[in-house]
Amino acid sequence: MMAVGRSGGTILLFCLSFFAAVTAESPYRFFDWNVTYGDIYPLGVRQQGILINGQFPGPDIHSVTNDNLIINVHNSLDEPFLISWNGVQNRRNSYVDGMYGTTCPIPPRSNYTYILQVKDQIGSFYYFPSLAFHKAAGGFGGIRILSRPGIPVPFADPAGDYTVLIGDWYKFNHTDLKSRLDRGRKLPSPDGILINGRSNGATLNVEQGKTYRLRISNVGLQDSLNFRIQNHRMKLVEVEGTHTLQTMFSSLDVHVGQSYSVLITADQSPRDYYVVVSSRFTDKIITTTGVLRYSGSSTPASGPIPGGPTIQVDWSLNQARAIRTNLTASGPRPNPQGSYHYGLIPLIRTIVFGSSAGQINGKQRYGVNSVSFVPADTPLKLADFFKISGVYKINSISDKPTYGGLYLDTSVLQVDYRTFIEIVFENQEDIVQSYHLNGYSFWVVGMDGGQWKTGSRNGYNLRDAVSRSTVQVYPKSWTAIYIALDNVGMWNLRSEFWARQYLGQQLYLRVFTSSTSLRDEYPIPKNSRLCGRARGRHTRPL
Ligand SMILES: *[C@@H]1O[C@H](CO)[C@@H](O)[C@H](O)[C@H]1NC(C)=O
Ligand SMILES: *[C@@H]1O[C@H](CO)[C@@H](O)[C@H](O)[C@H]1NC(C)=O
Ligand SMILES: *[C@@H]1O[C@H](CO)[C@@H](O)[C@H](O)[C@H]1NC(C)=O
Ligand SMILES: *[C@@H]1O[C@H](CO)[C@@H](O)[C@H](O)[C@H]1NC(C)=O
Repeated sequence: MMAVGRSGGTILLFCLSFFAAVTAESPYRFFDWNVTYGDIYPLGVRQQGILINGQFPGPDIHSVTNDNLIINVHNSLDEPFLISWNGVQNRRNSYVDGMYGTTCPIPPRSNYTYILQVKDQIGSFYYFPSLAFHKAAGGFGGIRILSRPGIPVPFADPAGDYTVLIGDWYKFNHTDLKSRLDRGRKLPSPDGILINGRSNGATLNVEQGKTYRLRISNVGLQDSLNFRIQNHRMKLVEVEGTHTLQTMFSSLDVHVGQSYSVLITADQSPRDYYVVVSSRFTDKIITTTGVLRYSGSSTPASGPIPGGPTIQVDWSLNQARAIRTNLTASGPRPNPQGSYHYGLIPLIRTIVFGSSAGQINGKQRYGVNSVSFVPADTPLKLADFFKISGVYKINSISDKPTYGGLYLDTSVLQVDYRTFIEIVFENQEDIVQSYHLNGYSFWVVGMDGGQWKTGSRNGYNLRDAVSRSTVQVYPKSWTAIYIALDNVGMWNLRSEFWARQYLGQQLYLRVFTSSTSLRDEYPIPKNSRLCGRARGRHTRPL
């Protein structure tokens, strides 16, 4: 159920009075979501999926830059639930970020209304359930933010626009997977790959001669995936909110948590063609096919299923380097994306994050800079707001790796608002990693094999690197990003490898200012749920 408009209802009045100064001009879109368990058969066997309004995957959110999204989430599961928004920046408002460290869980049989604004953003993103291991059961869906009318988009309007959610999948349900991790064990390899919730027969309908946009997101738990379409090439046009140099690819690597938009032109004879998704860098390659169906086609897809890269890292690295920003194209605003010269801004600080894997008390754990994250009893953001001490310690994680033994803590690193910093992700392990930072998009200035050194900066792309929110780090390699810290709040930085984030490979960046101006950060939303040691407090002075 969705309604778009400027009138009607108490929620609207409430929002207008709350955000009047900043958002009164932007439209409101209302969503009413009921989160339930329901039977799904993605791999042919019955499973309990997490459905939203009866759907698996959940419904898409369609919005336009600066829209206000009012999303009333009813939790009909038997355990606490939260949704988070991959790539949506929630500017000045980390309270609604939907992570354990920012937002209280929605208890069973309760509801909570997220009030988000997709401020100054365009592009392709997705939402997902952030608590426990719910993501293994569904509860995810696409988010698209269209450009405002009058702001040029650097390609013609496509004839159709499809959300394509791809991801690995298990026959085990989310409670089984979680209890396995809780017992200190690793997860087995996934059993299959889904395209829009199906392991076979997912269909994209096209008409000959027309061009379509596919918004591809990897919503899976661990595997990097390669996406390709038989006899069709793809023109990459957008990555997580940045219009890219339009480049043709015959297949595309999509690491866990990442989103890409491609254009495909139906320029072949009208029949069915294979849409193929296969795992990357895995011992056993798993593959799933869907169908690109031309209208009027009565010929099923045939011929060999097109092959793609499997274990080749260099192929992937070269493709990643070819993904660059179109500096002359508009972004969410009419000015060209290249008008912000990120390569000329002095760095205030360099932070290096190294991952580690190991055992603590005989149980498998993962960490960043030797700290394996454990949640606190109260969302960190609420502890800040209510000045509750003892929930976490600032700088409970070092800003350089030590590669010493892993230990448990609620890791929070403080960084200063309005500074410009560099983060280097080091990966001494032999798997591909993928990191996501909430609240931001960052420039991916470099990645390469071996150990990062200050001299590695000589090879950075300081001109047209892509700006995004999720980045891969290849095995025994590093990736460097630049970030303008322009969004105050408590922001989760995590591995998108879901078992790893669950077992501690995450932390929070506390982007801090002593200013209490509304221009820097909104006050806590009046409808916030309060839990842990914040329970019984008041979101406004009495
Ligand atoms: C959600 O769905 C469940 C199962 O269909 C139903 O019992 C419940 O009343 C629904 N809740 C809302 C708020 O619609
Ligand atoms: C998951 O499967 C186990 C049996 O393997 C079952 O006991 C449990 O209720 C299931 N959980 C859900 C959420 O379906
Ligand atoms: C719960 O949903 C009802 C409507 O179904 C709404 O009136 C109420 O404001 C919601 N509560 C919260 C905390 O969002
Ligand atoms: C870059 O964007 C401009 C629009 O400003 C467009 O005309 C041009 O084709 C784009 N170039 C590439 C290589 O994508």
